[in-house]
Amino acid sequence: MVSRVIPVDPFDLVIFGGTGDLARRKILPGLYRRFRDGQMPPDARIIGAARTDQDSAAWRLFVGEAIDEFVAENAREPELIAAFLGRLSYVTVDAKGEGGWSALKAEMRPDTVQAFYFSVAPSLFGDLAERLHSFEIARSDARIVVEKPFGRDLETAQALNATLAEHFDEHQIYRIDHYLGKETVQNLMAIRFANILFEPLWNAQYVDHVQITVAEEVGVGGRGGYYDQSGAMRDMVQNHLMQLLCLTAMEPPSRYEPDSVRDEKLKVIRALQPLKGDDVVRGQYKASGDLPSYRDDAENASSLTESFIAMRVHVANWRWNGTPFYLRTGKRMKARLSEIVIHFKEPPHSIFDEDAGSRPNVLSIRLQPDEGIDLSVTIKEPGPGGMRLVDVPLDMTFADALGPEAADVPDAYERLIMDVIRGNQTLFMRGDEVEAAWAWTDPIIEAWTKRGDKPAQYDQSSAGPEEAMMMMHKDGRRWREISK
Ligand code: BG6
Repeated sequence: MVSRVIPVDPFDLVIFGGTGDLARRKILPGLYRRFRDGQMPPDARIIGAARTDQDSAAWRLFVGEAIDEFVAENAREPELIAAFLGRLSYVTVDAKGEGGWSALKAEMRPDTVQAFYFSVAPSLFGDLAERLHSFEIARSDARIVVEKPFGRDLETAQALNATLAEHFDEHQIYRIDHYLGKETVQNLMAIRFANILFEPLWNAQYVDHVQITVAEEVGVGGRGGYYDQSGAMRDMVQNHLMQLLCLTAMEPPSRYEPDSVRDEKLKVIRALQPLKGDDVVRGQYKASGDLPSYRDDAENASSLTESFIAMRVHVANWRWNGTPFYLRTGKRMKARLSEIVIHFKEPPHSIFDEDAGSRPNVLSIRLQPDEGIDLSVTIKEPGPGGMRLVDVPLDMTFADALGPEAADVPDAYERLIMDVIRGNQTLFMRGDEVEAAWAWTDPIIEAWTKRGDKPAQYDQSSAGPEEAMMMMHKDGRRWREISK
């Protein structure tokens, strides 16, 4: 059981950086899948724009190869691929000069949705925005899509926002955080706000603590240069984990619409308490057998950048006073696992003997892999052994509950690009949200830099450094097992 595919309006989508890695891996294969499912209408057009001097035929070849590489075999239908490629054209443009812009203008139709995807380095955002206006290409209802990293601190994010604001209104700017496009992230809102069951318990009175984990098996090999300048805090926490935290902690918005949702998320970010030194543990993975260490991958033998971070975070408001949110994310960990786990408190009084045992309820929302939710409930252990308590999972893996097609949902990028065309900003970050996130993150990074903290070393295929376990241990709690 999956929802119906509703085609979007015809559009002209220009992908600046159309020959780049993101376009090749995600954007173009994703658009093909939307075309195949009938969501991208046959008269929509995609225009690649980049510095590479080539014609449309050469770009179509490039896109065809990307589809071969990144679309599952059972979704590759030659006739559909040919029809999709027929919707594509290419223009060579010089982002910093005059070349190609008139040709691009000639490609655009006057009466279709207009979107420009800036899949390029942020340093080019200003040039592109300026030329889209000076060549009178972008209409006043055009949409632009920008990617992370959106700045590397508050100052650079403010500068980027100011640059874009010179040419576009906020309602035209779609800042992608691909975590918001993940199926289960939206499900989190459905679980919270479409059921009466959870919301009354969703507060400090009933929730002992929350754990948000995004663990990856991959290392940083291949992108060490970028990563070493960012680290887990800038690469994952300031955006992806922050968004998960916001959706978990926010008040119910009055409507499921862009500014209602984003206002509530912003309030959460603004309510985050500054962290103390012992609220943060950072780590770097060690070498293991043939596998290089973080420092080898980053090609920086004295790097102090973290490939793992764990934090204890407090949301200072009535709802969450005293309930810690533990966040952790890292590379080269035991398993690929992203989940949000709500650990409820124990019942205030137990009527059972102490040796009956007792375990608090735990609600886990799995983002990946095997999207689903799982609620542990305590019941009597079956059999004649008297009143002994045992936990059973009420497990709902969506693919099991809703049929195998439920696992075949659009990838985050596909969903988000379709939302751009629909003009729905709910799952995109607003400028003030991004700035507030940096305003909280900056002092934390500054503090550890000033102290000269060295990341703890951790084994590959582990759950991170011992120090992260100790942080929890001191609070009388334990991290959830990272397992598939
Ligand atoms: C990106 C980060 O934003 O998200 C990467 O830059 C990370 O370092 C990736 O690997 C994780 O995304 P996903 O969808 O694979 O969990």
